[in-house]
Amino acid sequence: MNPAMGLSPHSSSASSTAAAPAAGGAGPQGVFITFEGIDGAGKSSHIESLAAALRSQGRSVVVTREPGGTPLAEKLRTLLLGDAMDPLTEALLAFAGRRDHLRCVIEPALARGDVVLCDRFTDATFAYQGAGRGFDTEVLSILERMVQATPGLAGDSIRNPDITLWFDLPPAEAAVRLAGARAPDRFESQPEAFFARVADGYAARAASAPGRFVRLDARQERAAVWAQLAHALAERGYLTRAAA
Ligand code: TYD
Repeated sequence: MNPAMGLSPHSSSASSTAAAPAAGGAGPQGVFITFEGIDGAGKSSHIESLAAALRSQGRSVVVTREPGGTPLAEKLRTLLLGDAMDPLTEALLAFAGRRDHLRCVIEPALARGDVVLCDRFTDATFAYQGAGRGFDTEVLSILERMVQATPGLAGDSIRNPDITLWFDLPPAEAAVRLAGARAPDRFESQPEAFFARVADGYAARAASAPGRFVRLDARQERAAVWAQLAHALAERGYLTRAAA
């Protein structure tokens, strides 16, 4: 997407019904922003802040998450986070939910010209199932191409985020933050070595798509992390300086 077209304060009203479809290039372009990082990195607390900042600039914003985001995908999330299974089953459930999420929520929102803020997406599958569990990333790449194939899209016709905000935090610090939090799910209860592999997985994904990834130093206090995030989005034309 062209950031300059995507987030002009004049390009969209706050009402999703007022935004013209992007088809034919007439309406505002949707923008797809994902949030990634190991458990405990603090990404979730910034999603609503960014949604508020974008809405204050007149954008329609859809906040969603993976695994999940649709009734079907939320059921798959419950299975994925709660039931023991092998890594291929994990990957298949993650991508099955993603398919439904793309078809029912993400693509329609982008077609309306909305901004989609998604808490985790395919990079998490490469980081958790690929690097964390050691599952074959070639298979993940095949599933990625199948599930994210989007007819009519420019380039390789694979739907990818326009920008990925990567909250990078050393696993030892994440473990301290997670300790004493609510009851851990199947991933949060993994040992630190697992998160070290997941962190390496994110670093590898970031290195393979440097134009899409923005690395945020998540060791800093919340306001400083927000400042990094807002600066990065303003620099790319996704947020006006005033909101940043
Ligand atoms: P998370 O996004 O951290 O939600 P919450 O803040 O509610 O805990 O939790 C989702 C978990 O699912 C997280 O541990 C990463 C994992 N996950 C995968 O293993 N594979 C995936 O493809 C996705 C999207 C998430």
